Amino acid sequence: MTPREAVRQVPETSRDEWEEQYRSGRWDYLAGGPEQARYAALCEHILTAGAAAVLDVGCGTGVLRDCLGTRFTGRYVGVDWSHAALASRNCGPGETLICADASRLPLRGRFDAVVLSEVLYYLDEPLAAVRRMLDLVAPGGQLLISLYQPPADRHPGWHALMADLDRGVRSLSGTAHQLVTGGGRRRWLLYVLTREAQS
Ligand SMILES: C[S@@+](CC[C@H](N)C(=O)[O-])C[C@H]1O[C@@H](n2cnc3c(N)ncnc32)[C@H](O)[C@@H]1O
Repeated sequence: MTPREAVRQVPETSRDEWEEQYRSGRWDYLAGGPEQARYAALCEHILTAGAAAVLDVGCGTGVLRDCLGTRFTGRYVGVDWSHAALASRNCGPGETLICADASRLPLRGRFDAVVLSEVLYYLDEPLAAVRRMLDLVAPGGQLLISLYQPPADRHPGWHALMADLDRGVRSLSGTAHQLVTGGGRRRWLLYVLTREAQS
């Protein structure tokens, strides 16, 4: 199966469909617990690195910001193209939400941590998106990407896409990755791409 064929097997979701899904509560479960393991792994990296500025691309309702909790006192910028997702959030101190397409981010400046949490497979040209996000990482900072690892027997197309992304992401820079497991068959790969301090 070619990468393009694999991509087509991942549910294509238009901006309007995301709006509808957020309005109907389809994603409410994310705040409730079953995916806490992957949010915890992301937060651990951000907090351990002492990141003072975090960009969360495709932030949805900002579950990641909630998981960072009061231990994080820096600046948080969440970007999503769903008005409904962003409207559900009450911003705390240091928080900014921007409604925009991740392919055309209206952002300048650099962030200590840029996060793509369960977003990359929804973006056109995902590896080009990874390169653009790396440009937003401050020297010495990190790009964190979490990707669901579906059981190969249940979603062969998606599995093939993940293998393709895995090769692509690893080829970009010295990446570390770790497997995060939740309950049952829930497994995610968390990629950590570090931007060199000199760059
Ligand atoms: C599965 S949700 C993950 C939400 C959040 N990152 C989390 O882990 O809780 C995927 C999110 O990506 C957003 N998204 C998808 N394509 C996007 C795009 N082109 N630009 C901005 N946001 C996008 C959706 O609106 C949705 O909120």
